[in-house]
Amino acid sequence: MHPALLPLIFKRGQKEVRNRCVLAALTNKQSPDNGMLSEEEHRWLEKRAIGGFGIVTTAAANVTKDGQGWTGEMGVWSDEHIPRLSKLADDLHQHGALSLVQLFHGGMRAPQSITGVQPMTASETPLNAEDEDTARAMTSSEIEQTIEAFADAARRCEQAGHDGVELHGAHGYLIAQFMTARANRRTDQWGLADDRIAFLRAITQRVRESTGPNFLVGVRLSPKLPQLDFTLADALEVLDASLDLELDFIHLSCWNITEEGEHNGRQRPYTEWYAERMDGLMPLITTGTVWTRDDAARALEQGADLVGVGRVGIGHPNWPKLLADTRVEIQKPPFSEKHLSQAGLSPVFIEYMKRWTDFVAQ
Ligand SMILES: Cc1cc2nc3c(=O)[nH]c(=O)nc-3n(C[C@H](O)[C@H](O)[C@H](O)COP(=O)(O)O)c2cc1C
Repeated sequence: MHPALLPLIFKRGQKEVRNRCVLAALTNKQSPDNGMLSEEEHRWLEKRAIGGFGIVTTAAANVTKDGQGWTGEMGVWSDEHIPRLSKLADDLHQHGALSLVQLFHGGMRAPQSITGVQPMTASETPLNAEDEDTARAMTSSEIEQTIEAFADAARRCEQAGHDGVELHGAHGYLIAQFMTARANRRTDQWGLADDRIAFLRAITQRVRESTGPNFLVGVRLSPKLPQLDFTLADALEVLDASLDLELDFIHLSCWNITEEGEHNGRQRPYTEWYAERMDGLMPLITTGTVWTRDDAARALEQGADLVGVGRVGIGHPNWPKLLADTRVEIQKPPFSEKHLSQAGLSPVFIEYMKRWTDFVAQ
């Protein structure tokens, strides 16, 4: 049997996941701007549970209206979102998957053109977009309110029946911005002086206080963020500090699991750097350019406990089942629009995927 098809048990609540295959969070533009999870987005996720994924993660879900990074995303900022979230949890569970909601705030990457307000982050920071030249510094009370927004969102996810949440601390959005010297020059308790994860720690603690003892809480992290001058050394400092938090998993976003990072004069794949330091303390998910059975096996050999996938899960809702069948070759993109439609993508999601080089056949 392929090693990614073996079950895993989370210590918390002894929750069992049927295999090591994780659908990573995928923004898919299929929901309306009031954040209500649409039928299309529901169906697309449900199809991945039917296809055998052990864990299905939702797209980045907005914890506040003002933190939105894109249009068309689901929200978790209001109790009105709970009924649709609840139907999703029920249907994912019915097909045997654990369900995680990814909690998101864009910070300086929540464009004014979408939210109507100037983006904010830890400290005043210049932006690249032409019409929005600076993000302003958050006040202490805005920081507190944002932490509460994450906690309220997690409470809603639990109330709706989801197994847990993944805090989006990767890719340079708000939680990550607080970890970087470029966006965080604060001198108060949220500054970096000797604590890169003050904001993440406060969110984790409030999420824990707002949810029950069996609710899974993990964080997604990046091993580097060149646009924010955040290096592998910084990322490993964040990892070490995060291991003291009451987390149930770390999700490393590599973009390509074969890419290596240099630290202390040594070069190795990011997953190996993380797995070594985590030393089995909690499960490690790694994601990035996994398509084939060999790729998935490599991620586990590098020390990950679970294998996350994005694009192959878009093209193949039943990817875990394909891993089991050594006779079939797992088709790589480009995929025809017909193929993607059969894979459960609505026209708006297919259109969105055209932005990803060579994913949709022309
Ligand atoms: C269309 C698309 C949307 C994405 N949306 C998110 C997201 O909402 N949150 C997130 O953490 N990562 C997001 N990612 C990154 C993926 O979760 C994943 O890490 C990345 O695609 C690399 O994995 P892959 O090579 O298997 O696709 C997105 C990627 C794609 C292709």
